Amino acid sequence: QLQEQIHITDVAPRDGLQNQAIHLATADKLRLIELLVDAGVASIEAASFVSPKAVPQMADAAELLPQVQSRFPALRTSVLVPNLKGLERAHAAGAREIAVVLSASETMNRKNINMGLDQACEVSEQTLAAARALGLRTRAYVAVAFDCPFEGATPLDAVLRLAARMHAAAADEIVIADTIGSAAPGQVKQRLGALRGVVPVERLAVHFHDTRGMGVANAWAALEAGVRRFDASVGGIGGCPFAPGAAGNVATEDLVLMAELSGFATGISLPGLVAAVDFAQDRLQRPLGGRAITWLRRP
Ligand code: HMG
Ligand code: MG
Repeated sequence: QLQEQIHITDVAPRDGLQNQAIHLATADKLRLIELLVDAGVASIEAASFVSPKAVPQMADAAELLPQVQSRFPALRTSVLVPNLKGLERAHAAGAREIAVVLSASETMNRKNINMGLDQACEVSEQTLAAARALGLRTRAYVAVAFDCPFEGATPLDAVLRLAARMHAAAADEIVIADTIGSAAPGQVKQRLGALRGVVPVERLAVHFHDTRGMGVANAWAALEAGVRRFDASVGGIGGCPFAPGAAGNVATEDLVLMAELSGFATGISLPGLVAAVDFAQDRLQRPLGGRAITWLRRP
């Protein structure tokens, strides 16, 4: 029986590592990425080109990216850039794919990238246009697409407006992000249904944090809404340093397990992911793993 494929981008090297007390060495980041590739992961977010003062964990992006791309030429490798300066640095390091990050509330944009909503929108559009002119593939995050840690519930209208603008700016992928992990499946279904009215569903991706244990349920709601592109983080590591209360991303191993048991193909091996979780756990010196990790590690 032919199974439908879903596409998973593992964001552990960026979202997962940007908030860790232990700053991973470049060689360890490369090893983590190698383990993900060995597990069959075809797409990752490797780093961010942001201010090293804001996020010191990502200060080695310009050293890491060329090594990743030369060692794993077939791997889709994206990097987060918040502005034109980030794009310039990423391009100089040989980036082939970038992601801009826009939040659907005024305060979250200010806390995250020190711009108001209007300016963040304009900067994202300029960055997308410049990236396209350089021939790069592009993603656009719409963060706090459900709730903002500072302003509370995000109006659906705001999310639709930003997604439409990012689509008009020709972002290849528009990533609907539950930054603080507060979404529930019914709401995911409703919002993605509405988003399908402004962005072709093939261009929509979802990025769930798993703060309240609903990451996998939300991913299922997104699957039912027709979305086939997912962000996840091996071991469930992650969280935005500027969004208080956010836990890690939905764990890649949980997402893969759910999808495969539900008849979707991911191309990713669960034992391979467990090896990556074990490595990350050893280097970050704390227990890691999604909700299924104990079962996945069973002898
Ligand atoms: P700013 O202070 O307003 O920037 O920061 P500025 O333009 O005034 O410049 C200040 C200094 O930063 C200057 O250097 C610039 O050159 C430098 P100085 O003259 O002081 O030496 N600078 C940069 N350096 C390196 N790379 C750059 C860059 N831009 C300016 N790209 C800025 C604005 C955006 C830079 C800053 O606020 C920043 O870096 N923020 C970090 C944002 C971040 O990484 N957030 C976490 C990722 S987003 C996330 O996790 C959410 C997501 O996962 C989705 C979800 O879950 O919702 C994606
Ligand atoms: Mg995130």
